[in-house]
Amino acid sequence: MPGEITRTLLTSDQIARRIAELGEQIAGDLEEGGAAHRRIVLVPILTGSIVFVADLIRRLPLRLSLELVAVSRYPGQAMISKGARLRGEIPTNLSGAHVLIVDDILDTGHTLALVRDIIAEQAPASLRLCVLLRKRGRQEAQLTPDYVGFEIPDEFVVGYGLDHDGYYRNLPDIGVIRPAGLKPPQPESRP
Ligand code: IMP
Ligand code: MG
Repeated sequence: MPGEITRTLLTSDQIARRIAELGEQIAGDLEEGGAAHRRIVLVPILTGSIVFVADLIRRLPLRLSLELVAVSRYPGQAMISKGARLRGEIPTNLSGAHVLIVDDILDTGHTLALVRDIIAEQAPASLRLCVLLRKRGRQEAQLTPDYVGFEIPDEFVVGYGLDHDGYYRNLPDIGVIRPAGLKPPQPESRP
């Protein structure tokens, strides 16, 4: 096993409730001024946002489409930031569209900043950022997400789409993982 889950941070029920709230808020904002003739495009950042975006879009009763982008940040085993790297194509038809970028977690912010900047160049009608999680005290890039599901402590989390070394994305809850190689806390020594 590459690591061990030490505790549950957010249960699937808590996540579902929060996504229902986010959906209402986002739908309200995207509809402002009339959604009928708008082109609404969600841009999920792969791979971490797949579970989140799947649940979120079912809470958005709007006419919308999806354009995926793939960014990797943690190649191989590393848990430290190597900076954001774009993989594959980026959508090129976002001019005039109302765009919502969706990611699983805002950590340093380099991933979101990279995608935001590339999309902003295409002159969308509006551009908003939505993250399920935001880690406290970690942000380096200049950006303010429009929607945040939960603020979480600075710990490495997995589940609900979030991975460690490619695994754990399928867990329904979000939990804290202790990476392999890190010693478990030692039991208090007895005299
Ligand atoms: P950022 O560019 O530092 O904001 O990192 C964002 C990306 O790093 C996210 O899309 C995640 O894929 C990944 N990431 C950051 N923190 C975690 C974590 O605690 N667990 C799993 N993935 C993480
Ligand atoms: Mg990711």
